[in-house]
Amino acid sequence: MTTDTTAAPTVDLFAQDFAADPFPVLADLRRTAPVHYDPATRLWLVSRDKDIRKVLLDPATYRNDNALGAVLPLRLPALRILDRAGFKTLPPALFNNSDATHPALRGAVLRLLSAQRVRDALPMIEKITREELDRMAAELETTGRYDLARGPARAIPVRVMLEMLGIPRAERADVTTVADWTDAFITLFWGRTDKDRQRELAHQVADFHTWLCGLAALRDAPADSLPGALARARMPDGSPVSPEVVVAVCSNLMIAGHVTTSQLLRTAAYRALESDGRWQALARDPDRAEGWIEETLRREPSLTAWRRVTSRATTLGGVDLPRGAQLLLLLTSAGTDPEAHEEPERICPVRGAGRGHLGFGLGRHRCPGAELARAEGRVVLAALATRFPQLRLLAPRRPPFLELVSFRAPTRLDVTHGPRAGREAAHPA
Ligand code: HEM
Repeated sequence: MTTDTTAAPTVDLFAQDFAADPFPVLADLRRTAPVHYDPATRLWLVSRDKDIRKVLLDPATYRNDNALGAVLPLRLPALRILDRAGFKTLPPALFNNSDATHPALRGAVLRLLSAQRVRDALPMIEKITREELDRMAAELETTGRYDLARGPARAIPVRVMLEMLGIPRAERADVTTVADWTDAFITLFWGRTDKDRQRELAHQVADFHTWLCGLAALRDAPADSLPGALARARMPDGSPVSPEVVVAVCSNLMIAGHVTTSQLLRTAAYRALESDGRWQALARDPDRAEGWIEETLRREPSLTAWRRVTSRATTLGGVDLPRGAQLLLLLTSAGTDPEAHEEPERICPVRGAGRGHLGFGLGRHRCPGAELARAEGRVVLAALATRFPQLRLLAPRRPPFLELVSFRAPTRLDVTHGPRAGREAAHPA
């Protein structure tokens, strides 16, 4: 493929248009400027599947130290609020750890999220799903409408995560509060917000941090819980994991375990509902849910983009990069790169090479929660379609999307259940 560098597009990574439909801009980037400097964020945008793979498989040259910093600088009032809560920069844990301590911390987490533990957790996931869909049915019955983005898609991942990570019941904050905290976290660090909004978000992040410190103090928790596993883990020099690092690992897990899966559910449901026939096909054959989830992960993954920083001067995609160059790996672009996937724009739940995508990353930092996320996605989407076979979207047809650099999903999905009535049936929206 040739690169037409005369026509590199201007990208606004925070704009609603880009969030709702990033595909044309990503195609332009791949074609004209596959490693493109964005002055607004000072990030090099990497858009081709092959270049992203190269980066992910070379963690010595492309470190992840910069993965969790604020994409845009935070204002002083927000920083003061975080500082008063004792929230400083997160020390290296998982997402931001390229050092020798990473394998020990990752090992503790991998054991909690193993394929066997996910299989054993299926009855729990199904039970939580049934309970949340009961709530949804009751509200649909009373009001005739429901916002899918705020219901089961939000509650189920939080509840499942608290169970999987063995957080003792007495220590659990309520589900909506955890969801609000983690949403505030990603908005503050990956969004473009003004001073007042930053202040509000910082208060929520400060409360979240205080709760995490309480979890990290549970040194006697059972070994099959996150706090207990971290209390028993040892660093390469034999020392225990410091309280600050335990807080950081808990924070990584709470955010990654909830927001990404919630976004996956919302995006998968939206795509299945947006055109006539797809939802009904899913209701008739719920085994299709697995393929739907896989295609969503490929084509529009919840983690749309992730950062790396170069440890030395290097060349990527024909572009010379200095030491310290900050990269943004555009995972959505990799999933829609025609050099990597046939007819990438088409959602095809029976696509053979389904799992060859980068929706869960690759290499040393590949997502340890992938099987849990897949299982949740499959169970919830199949249960939604069989329980509500006549679910359909209410206007607007194109919902608003999160305006964040690394996370993407519809923020509102108003639905109703039942056949179209009278004029509505004659004039489908
Ligand atoms: C749809 C759901 C999910 C998506 C799309 C997703 C995506 C990703 C991606 C792309 C990475 C690689 C980041 C990198 O290369 O630096 C990653 C890492 C990670 N994910 Fe997930 N994830 C999901 C669900 C989960 C769940 C359910 C958990 C835990 C309960 C989880 C925990 C983590 C952790 C701890 C890491 C860091 C691993 C490391 O650096 O060693 N994720 N995830």
